[in-house]
Amino acid sequence: MIEKGIKIENPTGKLGVLLIGLGAVSTTFIAGIEAIKKGLGKPIGSLAQMGTVRLGKRTEKRVPRIAEFVSLAEIDDLVFAAWDIFEDDAYTAAGKAGVLENDLLRRLKAELEAIRPMKAVFDSRYVKKLHGEHVKEAKTKWDLAQQLIDDIQRFQKEKNVSRMVMVWCGSTEVFIDQTEVHQSLEKLEAGLRNNDEDVPSSMIYAYAALNLGIPFANGAPNLTVDVPAFCELAEQKRVPICGKDFKTGQTLMKTMIAPGLKARLLGLSGWFSTNILGNRDGEVLEDPESFKTKEESKLSVLDYILQPDVYPDLFSDFYHQVRINYYPPRKDNKEGWDNLDIFGWLGYPMQIKINFLCRDSILAAPLVLDLVLFLDLAKRAGLYGIQEWLSFYFKSPMTLPELYPEHDLFIQLMKLKNTLRYMRGEEQITHLGLDYYQ
Ligand SMILES: NC(=O)c1ccc[n+]([C@@H]2O[C@H](COP(=O)([O-])OP(=O)(O)OC[C@H]3O[C@@H](n4cnc5c(N)ncnc54)[C@H](O)[C@@H]3O)[C@@H](O)[C@H]2O)c1
Repeated sequence: MIEKGIKIENPTGKLGVLLIGLGAVSTTFIAGIEAIKKGLGKPIGSLAQMGTVRLGKRTEKRVPRIAEFVSLAEIDDLVFAAWDIFEDDAYTAAGKAGVLENDLLRRLKAELEAIRPMKAVFDSRYVKKLHGEHVKEAKTKWDLAQQLIDDIQRFQKEKNVSRMVMVWCGSTEVFIDQTEVHQSLEKLEAGLRNNDEDVPSSMIYAYAALNLGIPFANGAPNLTVDVPAFCELAEQKRVPICGKDFKTGQTLMKTMIAPGLKARLLGLSGWFSTNILGNRDGEVLEDPESFKTKEESKLSVLDYILQPDVYPDLFSDFYHQVRINYYPPRKDNKEGWDNLDIFGWLGYPMQIKINFLCRDSILAAPLVLDLVLFLDLAKRAGLYGIQEWLSFYFKSPMTLPELYPEHDLFIQLMKLKNTLRYMRGEEQITHLGLDYYQ
């Protein structure tokens, strides 16, 4: 592509999507893509597919579709590979996940049956609620990483893919604090060789991907690439990385509403969030150690958006609680209740109630698509390391250690679109607008 901005390689050939975990999110994503290829549905919720970007002045009326503006990979060029601890192919796994209707799945049966998961790198120490048989064996974590590298290279050859992206759609692992082994690439590699406890399965996949120069997105709240060792590897191999934890459901709502309260200087005295969820993700999150990882990810959002230190009269003392309860009858159809105690003029109290009957994986699938397409774009544009412009998609966006994460959905969107404008050498939009009048 000839660029005014930075040089971006053309997206020629197939783009391989490597999915860790073939559960509700992955199968809803893959089936959705196959349905879209056949004209059976539209990529609703995908900014990369349906979004536009305004260029120049409002009077110029230049509003191209994002997909055309930055030339993203085509949906028809996406091919999939996955790992899971269960042997079910994508058709069976999608049926079990129970997100999409059987009628639609039957029409995609051949494509979905062809996706059979490879043996996983898994250790139930890191996901206590699951026990699988379809798991790789090796003496060391280093050897496991080499087996993953073999899997990836075989897939690349068999499917003749020219580029790849890896997305963690596996279960939430138990909470792990950053320790010494995460502090440098050298220490991480030693940790892989001597089976360090603080190197969970997700890091073994990420190590394999980054080593092969494959961009990595983390859809769950586990640390995974959010440690100095992986930032070092990403820099060294010039690979884009991003995470953590897809921003869907209740946290999506939070990052839409909290900026509004702050914008109008309405105070907050409490925000109580509770959910019922009946899919496997809900079951895994019943384990307090996996829930702790999730809770950390969900709780920090309000503090960053509301800035209690900057607005002490409004936000210094709010009570924030998040609960998730496993409730099988609802399957993937989560129900969330939020109660907000807010206050206005002279401190008079008011309440807001939100009852969101959402479909978790229906909200997550377009995020997987966008992350795949944008990470591939970042790689072709020569961007590497943490991709903060993709914070839009995450509950706990990764940033450099000296920066605080940006959680406000609208600032995140502006950042994303300005990054696209930057890539194509278009002017940044400040929304000042004075020049129309003076
Ligand atoms: N759906 C959402 O809205 C949403 C939002 C944010 C984050 N997430 C996260 O995305 C992840 C996937 O969610 P889901 O609803 O698809 O869950 P799921 O339980 O349906 O699927 C996860 C799959 O990962 C597999 N798995 C676990 N560990 C693995 C490993 N080491 N290697 C390979 N496979 C492994 C499991 O067997 C399972 O099939 C979860 O961590 C969840 O917390 C989902």
